[in-house]
Amino acid sequence: MIPPHFIDELLSRIDLVDVIGSRIDLKRTGQRFSALCPFHDERSPSFSVNQDKQFYHCFGCKSSGNAIKFIMEFDGLDFPTAVKGLSESVGLKVPTEENADTSQQQKKNRLYKVLEEANLFFKTSLRDHPEKQKAVSYLKGRSVTGSIARDLGLGYAPPGWNGLVAHLEKKEISLDEALEAGLIARKDNGSGFYDRFRDRVTFPIVDLRGRVIGFGGRVLDDEAKPKYLNSPESLVFQKSREIYGLYEARNNSRKLDIIMVVEGYMDVLALSQNKIDFSVATLGTAINSQQIKSIFRTAPSIVFCFDGDLAGRNGASKALLAALPVMEDGLSAKFMFLPDGEDPDSLIRKEGKEKMLSRIQDSKTLTEFFFDEIETKISSRTPEGMAAAAKKAAPLFNLLPNGVLKEILINTLAEKTGVDSVKLQNRLGLESTSSDSLPQSYVSASSQSYQSYSISKDKVRPLIDQAIEILMANPELGANIEQGVLDELSRDPETGLLSDLLTWTRDAENVDQERVLRYCREKLNYQVSKHLVNREVVLSIGELSKELGDLLKKLLITIKGFRRSELLSNLTKKSLKDLTEDEKKILSNSYKKPIQ
Ligand code: GTP
Ligand code: MN
Repeated sequence: MIPPHFIDELLSRIDLVDVIGSRIDLKRTGQRFSALCPFHDERSPSFSVNQDKQFYHCFGCKSSGNAIKFIMEFDGLDFPTAVKGLSESVGLKVPTEENADTSQQQKKNRLYKVLEEANLFFKTSLRDHPEKQKAVSYLKGRSVTGSIARDLGLGYAPPGWNGLVAHLEKKEISLDEALEAGLIARKDNGSGFYDRFRDRVTFPIVDLRGRVIGFGGRVLDDEAKPKYLNSPESLVFQKSREIYGLYEARNNSRKLDIIMVVEGYMDVLALSQNKIDFSVATLGTAINSQQIKSIFRTAPSIVFCFDGDLAGRNGASKALLAALPVMEDGLSAKFMFLPDGEDPDSLIRKEGKEKMLSRIQDSKTLTEFFFDEIETKISSRTPEGMAAAAKKAAPLFNLLPNGVLKEILINTLAEKTGVDSVKLQNRLGLESTSSDSLPQSYVSASSQSYQSYSISKDKVRPLIDQAIEILMANPELGANIEQGVLDELSRDPETGLLSDLLTWTRDAENVDQERVLRYCREKLNYQVSKHLVNREVVLSIGELSKELGDLLKKLLITIKGFRRSELLSNLTKKSLKDLTEDEKKILSNSYKKPIQ
């Protein structure tokens, strides 16, 4: 695999205008370059290259992408070959497995080593440390067997302040690396280090290659705080990416049908001990789309497990939002709610494996839970009430990729509301591939010809501002946006800014308001206005997610409308004999639409 950082490096060294200009005839038109599109037959240029963004786009055939994509399509190459050719043209060497050992990789390797050493130390302490009895009886008290403790690599971080520090020193391992791996911390007075995990049972967290990347530690005495302590994030450990138990679950079985997602380390432990060896947990955070994707790479079905209380219900709503964008055909997700006051740990010990399996069997399907979510919002069963419900469902539908599930959900909603499903799709404002279904107001805007760009800016900026405001209040929402929406947004310089921001909030770690502001200012050259920064956002996460969905939809409709009116106004300037059959059709259709 070619490492992503190399692709970034490569793209930063080449200029798309050179790459394309050396293959086809490019003309500068204002800020952009344009040409007759090399990917479809045309007489007037609709192929445009944006040098700032290093992105090309054809308004005719919709092909678009960066330099690598262009080379792949134009020269007919596969990805590695295109990258290789481009790299050679700027004197770069594509890293291979052998020479990929960059300094970054070496540093990671050193962190893996020190983490593994700590893991050995904790495990040994659970067997040999003079005070091990405390930990052993704690685990016994929770009916954790020796074999499960061994399978999951449980350990004991001894009391005192420097058990691990002393051990690493004895082994002549650099404490700076232990610091960087989050195992130890620097003393307040600046001289020396102390153990981060003390007098706790430890749970090693491993990545999908089985390397230890961090630890969770539970106190032995329920009064002590915090109950659980996790390693801080490091070069090798990112909480929002990792899933506790996924490596083990994969290893337990060659082919997994289903993965059960629970809340805590002890839940995974108890389930595993009771022969349900396909459960995983997030590390104290709400699950995100990326994590769900990574689980789906292991098994085609997920069952999310939640407490029966309000917090559990909220957790489930969040999980639904995160799951919708990744529900490709062939995948399934279920939602399981436990009786009040129980967690999987307590329940499996009480009821055993068979009952748990039947609970999984009986859990709600995504479709059922999806409509539960919508129906809790229906105030009345009158036609108006149902129409309102349909409207509320729109942002949820828009999170879904096109496919069977989306169709099923739309048809189910049609049945439930008694509204014909085609009408329903229109009412929901669902994405349609045909440009003919654009709202009429935008078609009539076509007569306004060329001012479109500045109009679009006026119309679009307030929407972008609102979206940024939501992201500042809740940056994790960026993770839920479909790639298709991002791609669509990135085609226009105005909305491209938002697409960059969304992509960044999705991929970056520890995003908060301050970092969002800095990113807008420094990377996007966009000054977020003061009144947005200081405004308090009072909506719940569900409401914010809906808001953001609505905003993005409005933006897409707006820019599509402008693209269409731009196209129409260009066509009306041509004489009839220069128009292709397709172009004539587009024009005559636009005249047929009643103008309001
Ligand atoms: P037990 O009390 O040991 O049964 O744990 P539990 O799994 O029932 O704990 P709980 O439901 O309170 O927490 C679930 C998960 O949330 C844990 O596994 C941790 O990952 C996380 N968590 C809980 N308490 C804390 C805390 O104080 N700090 C941090 N960082 N995470 C916590
Ligand atoms: Mn518990």
